[in-house]
Amino acid sequence: MVKANSRTADYPIDPLFLERWSPRAFTHAPISERELLTLLEAARWAPSSFNSQPWRFLYARRDTKHWPQFLGLLSDYNQSWAKNAAALVILVSKTTLLPRGADKEVPSYTHSLDAGAAWANLALQATRSGWAAHGMAGFDVPRTARELSVPSDYRVEAAIAIGRPGDKSLLPDALRAREQPSDRLGLSQLAWEGGFQATRAD
Ligand SMILES: Cc1cc2nc3c(=O)[nH]c(=O)nc-3n(C[C@H](O)[C@H](O)[C@H](O)COP(=O)(O)O)c2cc1C
Repeated sequence: MVKANSRTADYPIDPLFLERWSPRAFTHAPISERELLTLLEAARWAPSSFNSQPWRFLYARRDTKHWPQFLGLLSDYNQSWAKNAAALVILVSKTTLLPRGADKEVPSYTHSLDAGAAWANLALQATRSGWAAHGMAGFDVPRTARELSVPSDYRVEAAIAIGRPGDKSLLPDALRAREQPSDRLGLSQLAWEGGFQATRAD
């Protein structure tokens, strides 16, 4: 058994997987470009189909020129806490790839999966480096594509807030109540030897 914060793993994994979670309370600490690029560097080393590396990262650091535009893409709810983040990242993935030996791009079956692996690397590196990364689906995707000039053969995947985790007293009441690491479904509800089995998780 492995324990970290309020979480317990049933099998002996690296505690880093339990230590990573998605806080909304951030101190006002800024992030240097070098620190942010260190997190993106971890993402860069994710595995991908055909090593196609479909991930792209558009970013803005707080108190820089692009910040108001990036923050303005988020839902009001996400803006209410992400405004204190140190950086916002929009994760985009390329929907086609060039298979080995081919001379023409084909649709990629795995571009979103690959981008998800990059996001996970980023989030884990953030935790390891004393930052926290919080993924967000609550943002205006069409406006993001338009305003950030994302080409039509790329998919806007997610937004990510990165900040120095702070005390939950920084949050308004409604958010403070939810500010803790969440639990997970049991592995027996998620993994089966052999074929798919319907469980309570469905
Ligand atoms: C792709 C993605 C989208 C998410 N969208 C939002 C969001 O819009 N707003 C929010 O507050 N949290 C969002 N979350 C955070 C999840 O709710 C959180 O990761 C989940 O509850 C598990 O908790 P943990 O990350 O603390 O372990 C998102 C997470 C991911 C990975």
